[in-house]
Amino acid sequence: MPKVIINDEEFEANEGEGLLNIARRNGVHIGFACNGNGLCTTCECKVLEGKERLSSYNEVENAWLPVSRKEAGYRLGCQTFVVPAGAGTPPLKVITRAELVRRQFLEGLGLAKFSDSPSTLGDFVGTILKTTLDHVIGAPTGMANGLTRLGIVTFLFPFNDMNGFLNDTGQVLNKQLGTNFGTLTPDSIPENTNSEEKPDSTGGWFFRRRKAAAQASAESTPPPSGSVAAPAAEKTAPRPASSEGNEKVNISPLGKRRREK
Ligand code: FES
Repeated sequence: MPKVIINDEEFEANEGEGLLNIARRNGVHIGFACNGNGLCTTCECKVLEGKERLSSYNEVENAWLPVSRKEAGYRLGCQTFVVPAGAGTPPLKVITRAELVRRQFLEGLGLAKFSDSPSTLGDFVGTILKTTLDHVIGAPTGMANGLTRLGIVTFLFPFNDMNGFLNDTGQVLNKQLGTNFGTLTPDSIPENTNSEEKPDSTGGWFFRRRKAAAQASAESTPPPSGSVAAPAAEKTAPRPASSEGNEKVNISPLGKRRREK
């Protein structure tokens, strides 16, 4: 199984898996404002080593990224995938744009040190300006590409997997801020997601896996006495806090499940 180092943390990846998906299912500090649809560039990463382990630039990246940015090793995490590489190829090592900017900001203020030659506030401002300028330059072709590729409905509302988006956002916040967003109960998870377990670039695989875990927990929990063949109204009525069936299933960023009563 290939290893991928994102923001100095090592993760296992599946061949063919999207870089954004690897980051999302591990709660990595990365942006995905358009939910992996190639419309925002907030998932941009800079490849530091092992670029041969990633798929070639595709039409979406070519539309968004100026040549200078591609030459500097930038990729869109939602558009690039792990591919087999020859023996001796170094592991893939990337830093996300979100993390790069965060580090430059903290180093510029003297609040943290991430490298031997810490960034200055000038580096931070320069990165923000260059990124913004390149985004503006790439926007006409990037947006035109997105509209053609996705159609008007998805282009205007790219959150076909809203629950996956919110949950993965919660996982990122949990990991980065030490919070506990994203607590799920079996009833809170809708039925409209595909149960097929395969990785995709939008993080839906992670969401589906957690949904399956929550459902398995609900099925293994005996119903409270007298709740057999409950009338439809009972489903919507609030259950007592002490009810076993009202347990919350909390899935941590590492996929471990624990229960809270
Ligand atoms: S998540 Fe928006 S372009 Fe990749």
